Amino acid sequence: MSKLAIDGGIPVRSEQDSSPTHNFGEDDIKVISQVIKSGVLLKVPAGPEVAAFQDEYSKRYGIKYGVMVNSGTSAMHTCIGALNPDPGDEIITTAWTSGGSIIGILLQNCVPIFADIDETMCLDPAEVESKITSRTKAILVVNLMGNIANVRELRKIADKHGIYLIEDCCQSHFSEDNGVTAGSLADIAGVSFGGKHLNLGGGGMILTNNTELWDRARLFIDAALPRKTTSLDGQPYANYFLAPNYKVNEIMGAMGRVQLTKVDGYVDSKIRSANNIIEGLSDCKEITPQMVRPGVKHTYWGLRFTLDTEALNCTANEYAEAISAEGIPCAGPYLGTPEHGPLYKNPFLAEPNLYGNSRFPLDYNRETPIDYRKINNSFGENFMSKGIGFSMKPFFTEEYVGQIIEANKKVISSFKQKGN
Ligand SMILES: Cc1ncc(COP(=O)(O)O)c(C=O)c1O
Repeated sequence: MSKLAIDGGIPVRSEQDSSPTHNFGEDDIKVISQVIKSGVLLKVPAGPEVAAFQDEYSKRYGIKYGVMVNSGTSAMHTCIGALNPDPGDEIITTAWTSGGSIIGILLQNCVPIFADIDETMCLDPAEVESKITSRTKAILVVNLMGNIANVRELRKIADKHGIYLIEDCCQSHFSEDNGVTAGSLADIAGVSFGGKHLNLGGGGMILTNNTELWDRARLFIDAALPRKTTSLDGQPYANYFLAPNYKVNEIMGAMGRVQLTKVDGYVDSKIRSANNIIEGLSDCKEITPQMVRPGVKHTYWGLRFTLDTEALNCTANEYAEAISAEGIPCAGPYLGTPEHGPLYKNPFLAEPNLYGNSRFPLDYNRETPIDYRKINNSFGENFMSKGIGFSMKPFFTEEYVGQIIEANKKVISSFKQKGN
């Protein structure tokens, strides 16, 4: 058995992979310079490039309307703002996601209620239904890593209880469930362009088939000003409700249109590499890939596995460090360890650090304020603490994919033997 690199042995790979994450080229530069030369950087409610990108992007999802904004966090905030909830309304969601999924809930003075996840690493529908109360306004499901949650079941639950379904597709551009694109079953969905499959170095999009939500989303991202083509068109100039400015400039729209022509290539390549890695490790029972439900096309923004840490005699972080030492960057549990991992353990919720020294909105119209220190999504905490992951890039070579498999096999066999 060869000695692990972490113990001074020869690494599987001597140099870090330096392949690019995206193909940015002359075509991007050309459209950006055209925008700058045009002198039109911003138009309201949307300039020609932003409007065209909104249209082209939402068409790719088979969704009627797209509204471009300056980040995924603002897209998710706008999804909440479009519903116009009352303070203290509850939104059921997952604790294993970026803070950007839920910050908008709190900024609208609503409260996130955390339901547990299942092996897909996304919300468990039964858990969600058990959390519904008279104050539940919506379910916010996050399609983690490019996977798709059981959104069909969540749609049924939302309809049964007369509440909204919001989908966070920030990590799941173009993922599909039996031919239906991520985001399509929700009332309103959000996407991020900050380092995701389609990457503009920032930016995001709201997607919806609902004309009223589309209208309110467009007003919400533009300080509720009476712009042409919105329902406030023709009203005197004024701010009509409390809303931020999340608009984007034309450069982002123009670059989005170019990147949209390349994104299929990125996605196909990542899926191919991920499937080859999963296949190559299929005989290692100590490492199990994120569960993908039948008929789901996972687009592998990230490739995550769960370890049998008992059989391997290690923690997920120890495993990740050993793989990284082999020259293959590997991350430990998503969002950190159980002590810091799920969002409800982050200081902004646990202390809480929300609005000054108050507990607002966690105590709004409630006899007992919500106390996130008492939350325990036990399945998720245990399951996600055993997770490791690899960032996926579209230009991985076959050699590199083979080395990812080799490094895992080397570490698995060594760790198993150490325990004997
Ligand atoms: C699931 C999810 N939601 C929301 C966001 C926030 O997106 P952004 O970073 O563009 O604000 C992210 C970003 O990583 C994310 O992964």
